[in-house]
Amino acid sequence: MQRGIEIGRFITFEGGEGSGKSTQAGILANRLSRAGRAVFATREPGGSPAAEEIREALLAGEISQFGPLAEAVMFAVARGDHVDTAIKESLQEGKWVVCDRFVDSTRAYQGVTGGVPRGLINALEQLTVGALSPDVTFILDLPADEGLARAQARAEGAEPDRFEGQELMTHERIRRAFLDIAEEEPGRCIVVDASQPEAMVAEDVWEAVLRRLNP
Ligand code: TYD
Repeated sequence: MQRGIEIGRFITFEGGEGSGKSTQAGILANRLSRAGRAVFATREPGGSPAAEEIREALLAGEISQFGPLAEAVMFAVARGDHVDTAIKESLQEGKWVVCDRFVDSTRAYQGVTGGVPRGLINALEQLTVGALSPDVTFILDLPADEGLARAQARAEGAEPDRFEGQELMTHERIRRAFLDIAEEEPGRCIVVDASQPEAMVAEDVWEAVLRRLNP
């Protein structure tokens, strides 16, 4: 009897600047590999060759002159390509997809702080990801001033990108937006205290993955 290939799992990391998402996504991807799982570690904006090109334009601020709706559309175009050419295939091959930022970033940055109406954000989500939803989303939570200080220390004098350069108050609103999403969707989202030392954050993440997804 032939056994069908198991569909992979889809895990996303969300949070504000300097919350340690990328580090934690990397640590989790390594742990899953060591547990014997095939892993596709990826990020947004980007994750596919065409979407990486859009990433450059977005982070350089080339789209901001057209306003937040145009940015939301461009993030969505990039996401559509990433989902269609990389994520879906990986899941079908049974891989565990670990993605640094996904739809919740558009909800928070373009929706809440950019003021793009929720109906439009939902429509873009529907167009780009349809029924594909992460199995688990980690919201790495940290006061905005701590996150910005960490991001600045990491950048060592480099110019902030289009989104890092926003005001502290905007970053606080982004933090709140992620916490609101977690409250709305407790079945998908897990809030992790990102002010803890890196190793403790990683333990919280791993413990939740074991509990929810049993890798
Ligand atoms: P990146 O360099 O990946 O930063 P970070 O380490 O904070 O993830 O830059 C991604 C930036 O793009 C980040 O500031 C958030 C922003 N962004 C949006 O505004 N909307 C989106 O849908 C996504 C995916 C990212």
